[in-house]
Amino acid sequence: MKDIFFCPEESNFYSNCLESFALRNCKKSECIVEFGSGDGSPVINSLLRNKFDGMIQGFELNTSAWKAANSTIDEYNLAHKYIIHNSSFFESSQSSQTKAEYLVANPPYIPAPDNDIYMPLLFGGIDGATVTNELLSLDYENVVLLISSFSNPKSTIDHANANGYCVSSFLILPLQFGYYSSEPKVKQHIEELRKQQMAFYSGNYYFLAGVLFKKCQEVKVDLSNELIQAMTSL
Ligand SMILES: C[S@@+](CC[C@H](N)C(=O)[O-])C[C@H]1O[C@@H](n2cnc3c(N)ncnc32)[C@H](O)[C@@H]1O
Repeated sequence: MKDIFFCPEESNFYSNCLESFALRNCKKSECIVEFGSGDGSPVINSLLRNKFDGMIQGFELNTSAWKAANSTIDEYNLAHKYIIHNSSFFESSQSSQTKAEYLVANPPYIPAPDNDIYMPLLFGGIDGATVTNELLSLDYENVVLLISSFSNPKSTIDHANANGYCVSSFLILPLQFGYYSSEPKVKQHIEELRKQQMAFYSGNYYFLAGVLFKKCQEVKVDLSNELIQAMTSL
């Protein structure tokens, strides 16, 4: 199990964000695609708590995580609502003909000089925001993402705005540095990013935001500035 992403606090928060921002609003039947399903628990827990008639298509590169997710999906008889592909999201999802209404992810956001870290699939590029920003370049109508305050959050919000997205809603969770972000090589790198105003934290705490990005024409009040303020306030 050691090679499967494990952080229940973070996964539960992601599950709550999925429920509030995507599951309850979905209208079409094939409406949600997920980048990086992990052991599947966030979506599975949301499905068990909500009436949802659509289908969620997940993508997970890590084969152990994919196997664990499938066995839980079978245990709860959810195979008609949640299908996970053991392939890279970037290679697979773009070839699908119909675009989902929602793209959802708790993406890899660990900043480091290179991907030689405890779990290489959690590498988020030098500033931690590379994968997140890529997910905001794919033109989905709605994107639900977790964003970390030590992963250059301002660049992500600027990138979203430049791609026509506004912030429709967000939730914030203070989290303690965990197993992956406390790895000495990663922690030192985050300290460097802080000097360049690309990482924000206080003592052992950072903020994780669950954000609903929507195309700006669909948003009445854009909360981008409020989100930047909250994420850089540590
Ligand atoms: C932070 S974990 C989140 C896991 C799960 N969604 C959760 O919140 O508990 C990110 C996941 O993305 C997966 N991943 C990384 N790159 C990927 C890619 N290109 N395509 C699909 N999954 C990927 C990792 O293996 C990892 O399981």
